[in-house]
Amino acid sequence: MAKDFDTMEDSNRSSNPSIHDVINAARRTLLKGGAAASLAAVMAPLGASLTACAATGAGRPKMGFKGLPIGMGDKLVVPEGYVATPIAPWGEPIGIAGNMPAFKIDASNSAADQAVQLGMHHDGLQYFPLDGSRRGLIALNHEYTDDGLLHVGGFANMDAEKVKKSQNAHGLSVYEVELKDGGWAMVRPSRFARRFTMDTPFAIGGPAAGHALMRTAADPAGRSVLGTLNNCASSQTPWGTYLSGEENWAFYFGAGDAPTPHQRRWGARKDGSYQWEKFDPRFDLRQNPNEFNRFGWVVEVDPMDPTSTPVKRTALGRAAHEGAWVGVTRDGRAVVYSGEDARFEYIYKFVSRDKIREAGGGLTKAQANKDLLDHGTLFVARFDADGTGRWLPLVHGQGPLTATNGFADQGEVVIKARQASDVLGATKMDRPEWLAIDPTNGWVYCTLTNNTARGQANQPGVDAANPRANNTMGQIIRWKDQGDFDGVGFQWNLLVLAGDPANERPEAKGNIKGDIYGCPDGLAFDQRGLLWIQTDAHATQMYKGEFKGIGNNQMLACDPATGETRRFLTGPTNCEITGVTFTPDGTTLFISVQHPGETPSDRSDPKEPAKYSNWPDYTLGGRPRSSNVAIRKKDGGVIGS
Ligand code: FEO
Ligand code: CA
Ligand code: CA
Repeated sequence: MAKDFDTMEDSNRSSNPSIHDVINAARRTLLKGGAAASLAAVMAPLGASLTACAATGAGRPKMGFKGLPIGMGDKLVVPEGYVATPIAPWGEPIGIAGNMPAFKIDASNSAADQAVQLGMHHDGLQYFPLDGSRRGLIALNHEYTDDGLLHVGGFANMDAEKVKKSQNAHGLSVYEVELKDGGWAMVRPSRFARRFTMDTPFAIGGPAAGHALMRTAADPAGRSVLGTLNNCASSQTPWGTYLSGEENWAFYFGAGDAPTPHQRRWGARKDGSYQWEKFDPRFDLRQNPNEFNRFGWVVEVDPMDPTSTPVKRTALGRAAHEGAWVGVTRDGRAVVYSGEDARFEYIYKFVSRDKIREAGGGLTKAQANKDLLDHGTLFVARFDADGTGRWLPLVHGQGPLTATNGFADQGEVVIKARQASDVLGATKMDRPEWLAIDPTNGWVYCTLTNNTARGQANQPGVDAANPRANNTMGQIIRWKDQGDFDGVGFQWNLLVLAGDPANERPEAKGNIKGDIYGCPDGLAFDQRGLLWIQTDAHATQMYKGEFKGIGNNQMLACDPATGETRRFLTGPTNCEITGVTFTPDGTTLFISVQHPGETPSDRSDPKEPAKYSNWPDYTLGGRPRSSNVAIRKKDGGVIGS
């Protein structure tokens, strides 16, 4: 999510000391020294350690495309020899037979229309094959809304119908796509087509299911929640389901004048950002305090079964979840990595108790593993200054996680995962976004998008993993768990500090080898082992100051062994590039272009909806629309090759 920095959540006031305070002073001195060489010194010993042990020379994936110049203007650009086709923009009917209302460019579709149309602000997406690389399902998140574009008259005079339309523009979509005559298009109607809105029941799985803190008047059992909210990144499990993270859900609640310490720790504010609480009492924390605890989870969806009930997996911990990504241990257990995109919050991993089961007995693989993510052990990461780290168990009864300290049981530990991580001394990170696991060697990568509060007065200082004060540019960290994905120790280093060497401020220069970028966010490995990086700088930053030389948000390929980076795609004005998924044969890449034409306030003026962008339709009187884009090589070859 692109969010104005002044409004980013920033609620970690824990004293949570950790080892870093010891080294902060020394490192601050180093960075203040100012020379790029000093910064390189922080990186070099770490960077070298992976290069030495990674694949060398032959066998590394080739980048066969010519890197693009920085992006300027309201267009999407891909390299020579490639073609990019917008498919499935906001408002297109999803493809439910007999209920396919056409999109109206003046935003006059009703809330009921929106419930069967693609939502707004596309983010994480995954391709699920129905017929190999020619026909499949796309499962997609709709992270948030720009109510200035969503309604006739915009955000003024919100009412129950507008709130319902806004709720229906959030959530998830599943739609069918097919490659025909060299191009991808939606298949409509489709028996798989499905929307998940704020009215869709989600089951609660894991230790918080039925917990007293999860019970509400509407759901006295605490086992079923309507809707999923602010879903950001996504991934696909080895058993064929879709994982999606609930990220900035706290902004949808209104707490009034006296939020509780628990609500404050989770970023609750006096008023919600979308006025939902005025028309839907579920989001008024004074009336429904526990509704707050029913968001912040990783949700799991089986897109292949249109009748399946999606589940919130509480064993993975509650967080401002960007998303969740699965590795598999040698003995077949699932290890799920996740982080939370909020300043000074944490990185987690969950190790399943059981092994992944194969399909059989009339069950698909997804059905055979329907409870896999409900049982296991949750950990939070501590990155130590010597390049090692530790996964600290978030287990009730272990260490300080006892009833005396406010954690009555494991349900309360996962609901209050932030507070539990505070007392364990986990490392406060620079906004963890996407993760990606290198299929060739098991190193896990995570984008830390930025953190301008780092090192400011009364805020945590720099540490080894988050080494820059006023971190406008972000970095990518990586680690390798000891022995296997379930190892409790790990080694780590920084792949890169993003930035522009032309910048004067040392902390904004970075050390990118190749094409420059800022604010890394989306991240994925392709089948060949190239690391794809997507960026999300905000409209308030772009085209000026330290971002002057960086241009529109973009997507780049990176050879993780050498760090060489090449710009592959640049987006239209003020968009974010996010969401990355490939067909199994690697010849199609699907992405999301989110919030083209984003305004500094995140909310458009309905009188001038196309002030900054009119992508992708460019129609007179139109409005910009988030969309998925299918990218192919004209010769049908593998993307990036
Ligand atoms: Fe929704 Fe962290 O980006
Ligand atoms: Ca982001
Ligand atoms: Ca993101």
